[in-house]
Amino acid sequence: MHRIATLFFACTLFFSACNTPVEEAPPVGLLADSAMVVSAHPLASEVGADILKQGGNAVDAAVAVQFALAVVYPVAGNIGGGGFMVSRMHDGELSALDFRERAPFSGGRDMYLDSLGEVIPKSSTLGHLAAGVPGSVAGMYTAHQRYGTLPWEQLVQPAIDLAANGFLLTEKEARSYNSHRERFLEANTVAPAFLLNESGWNPGDSVVMKDLAWTLTQVRDMGAEGFYTGEVAKKIVAEMVRGNGMISLDDLAEYEAVWRDPVVFSYRGHRIISMPPASSGGIALAQLLQMVESYPLADWEPHSAEKVHLFTEAERRVYADRSTHLGDTDFYPVPRESLIDAAYATQRMASFDAEQATDSEDIASGEFSGPKSEETTHFSIVDAQGNAVSITTTLNGGMGSHVVVDGAGFLLNNEMDDFSIKPGYPNAYGLIGAEANAIEPGKRMLSSMTPTIIEKDGQLKMVVGTPGGSTIITSVFQTIVNVLDHGMGMQEAVAYPRFHHQWKPNLVYHEVDAIPSEIRNALQNMGHTLQERGGIGRVDAILILEDGKLEGGADPRGDDMAAGY
Ligand code: DON
Repeated sequence: MHRIATLFFACTLFFSACNTPVEEAPPVGLLADSAMVVSAHPLASEVGADILKQGGNAVDAAVAVQFALAVVYPVAGNIGGGGFMVSRMHDGELSALDFRERAPFSGGRDMYLDSLGEVIPKSSTLGHLAAGVPGSVAGMYTAHQRYGTLPWEQLVQPAIDLAANGFLLTEKEARSYNSHRERFLEANTVAPAFLLNESGWNPGDSVVMKDLAWTLTQVRDMGAEGFYTGEVAKKIVAEMVRGNGMISLDDLAEYEAVWRDPVVFSYRGHRIISMPPASSGGIALAQLLQMVESYPLADWEPHSAEKVHLFTEAERRVYADRSTHLGDTDFYPVPRESLIDAAYATQRMASFDAEQATDSEDIASGEFSGPKSEETTHFSIVDAQGNAVSITTTLNGGMGSHVVVDGAGFLLNNEMDDFSIKPGYPNAYGLIGAEANAIEPGKRMLSSMTPTIIEKDGQLKMVVGTPGGSTIITSVFQTIVNVLDHGMGMQEAVAYPRFHHQWKPNLVYHEVDAIPSEIRNALQNMGHTLQERGGIGRVDAILILEDGKLEGGADPRGDDMAAGY
């Protein structure tokens, strides 16, 4: 009697109502008995739920969702980008897969600087030189080899069908395609006709991606080799030659996804499992949760002045550490264990003043002695056996470098901008870095992606993650606290307004309804500067309820949707 149930949440239509902490009944997400996918696009969620129904496990479904998103959600879904997967099998086995892009072998520390040492405008964000060596296909193939149960071909096929037969644009997608038009024209040597529409895209228009269907067919038939060697690889390199990019056949052939040890720590009796470097996400999340654990958050209003102040001060300290200490551990000795030590969190908060904001100029990164040991997308999946997958994947900026590989129909990332392209120079998200995240040939650029899984008493409890650049970490942080401390359900926790601080600039960013005016005044009196901004993050998450049912949290800030049975 299993039935695929899909739902556009009421709050997708009534966004502002969902985004306001008023006395209305809190939004409840899709409930499912057995299995669920929550992703940024309804068609991708349905593809994943179908795979689960066909008997595939969560990893099988994740592979199918990743490829489907590359078609229907090109702003961030990708085969030309990279990402991270955290998984927990029903027997408790944990893993973390790093399929982050790498710098080309011919890249180097000063590749975005002119002869005077100044950053060449847009060089790391738009066009061929901005692209790192893509990791997504290798990531999916590697994950499938270890955990997959259905044949690979069966998982790639739904994406091929979507690309070849076409799919209908949602309103948000139509707007997004139109807004990127000029940059598509600027970045490409051969205009990507399938993404351009002279008279502008409208909701309901059908988009067909023939070249992408061909590329996916190579991947279906030859696995990762179908992307990293052979005809697709040749087309990528030909594109690089036309546009003065750097990715070579050697870069592609040598690319590997890497299994890492997940970051594991506890918070209020829960076991939190998250992503280690090359993402900063897991370490920063561990620091943040440990810094606030001794405070009675459950007794505080979710957006009280004392809570926004505490979180801001914790975030200020954590992002200062991020800028100095975090980078690809294959190249830099990140003091991982020291950073996530609970005693270090306590020491770091010793300068916290409950009444007064600290000046970011007075906060430096912590020091350790001894050996130093606006687009992404996230999806969360739980299958009927209780296996769980949390994947965040990205091209970096919306539509990445805007370069489409001619004849292969997919967008390349602009992930190189996530490196510290010059010490102290802010990336597209305002994040600064230095040595730990300097460009080196073959190195992975530091990420903020935070795919996370939570256990309680040895049982799966939550799968969570989000896009949002630098705000990813703080959005995951707040979503977890919303559920574990404030007792919210999954949809309510995801929809709840968010705020963010990242050390520099010294601003508390907040969504329009996140901080009521009297609390803004209180925060300003403490010395905080507030700045309103658009939506922060798009969290897609699943909560396992007391009765064993799954509740989806699909972010009303996007087209996100839960599908399950
Ligand atoms: O890896 C990172 O942290 C960034 N490239 C993520 C970019 C992102 O989330 C953009 N989304 N809104």
